Amino acid sequence: MTRPFLSILGTGHYVPERVLTNAELEKTIDTSDEWIRSRTGIRERRIAALGERTTDMGAEACRRALADAGLGVGDVDAIVAATITPDYPWPAAACVIQDKLGAKGAFALDVQAACSGFIFGLSAAEGLIATGAARRVLVVGAEKLSSITDWKDRNTCVLFGDGSGAVVVGPANGRARLMSVYQGSDGSMVPKLLQPGGGSVCPASAESVANGMHFLKMDGKEVFKFAVRIMGEASAEAVKRAGWKNEDVSLFIPHQANQRIIDAAAKFMGLPSERVFVNVDRYGNTSAASVPIALDEARRAGRIKDGDKLVMVAFGGGLTWGACAVQW
Ligand code: ACO
Repeated sequence: MTRPFLSILGTGHYVPERVLTNAELEKTIDTSDEWIRSRTGIRERRIAALGERTTDMGAEACRRALADAGLGVGDVDAIVAATITPDYPWPAAACVIQDKLGAKGAFALDVQAACSGFIFGLSAAEGLIATGAARRVLVVGAEKLSSITDWKDRNTCVLFGDGSGAVVVGPANGRARLMSVYQGSDGSMVPKLLQPGGGSVCPASAESVANGMHFLKMDGKEVFKFAVRIMGEASAEAVKRAGWKNEDVSLFIPHQANQRIIDAAAKFMGLPSERVFVNVDRYGNTSAASVPIALDEARRAGRIKDGDKLVMVAFGGGLTWGACAVQW
């Protein structure tokens, strides 16, 4: 069996209305707009409303992707959700999304690869389609990172935001075909980026909460070094597996974690800034939602034309990394 098996039939995204600016953060922690912008490229991020859940955002992105594809919920056989902030530790966020959509005929599962989750989810959907287990699949990345952010920790709280992005995919047709995927993991790096509390190692207790174990913890420097290397290498591997050359890439859609990481990856690929999609300034890092939000915004901004060669790439907790090539 050879690729392509899968085409992207529609895209959608959703971000909450509430904008949290760097200037507002200056009032609550010891930071400055200048520091945040120069070290990360972030100017503002979106924050979910009180009571707004990850799956509310995920379901909305799915509705928009289905509308874009001209399909209904009855056309969907499976829902693959990527998130590190599900409504509950279990069951799967995808099951809640299925219920919200009323997609009764679809089976639902989560993929957990942190910020790489959307690429891993797309790869899982490709497998489902290639084996005939499903015909049309919703792949959604949705995050409410504000719910696991320690708003007193200036090392992390300036980086993250909330939102969701989705694609509906089906058997390969003439357009938007997935030409290659490359994924990797390095479990020895688990301690560098994780939420230590709430799992079987450190179940919720008064002590775990008092110690802030349910917040995201990160060794920023180590993750940065890793990301700078892997984003370029993974992208180049996806390009090679698609039978392309780096200079063929029309639009590069990297995980939006940090402008400096994006710049390093683009430089490694030899791509000028006009061929790199960036929205980290407006949304910060939305983890598994970052790549599908960027894909949908790029399309709606007219940055993607028929025949274009796209590369999407991400890295995240695990550590994990994934890249894919899509011929639009
Ligand atoms: N405002 C002001 N100063 C700050 C802030 C802040 N918000 N945050 C940290 N600093 C200080 C530090 O305390 C440090 O001070 P010190 O030298 O006195 O100790 C100084 O700024 C420099 O810190 P560095 O860590 O050297 O800053 P760096 O240039 O590495 O940037 C950053 C930090 C932005 C976190 C960077 O390391 C980074 O982007 N890392 C990768 C993060 C990432 O993308 N993670 C992915 C997680 S997503 C997922 O999978 C859920």
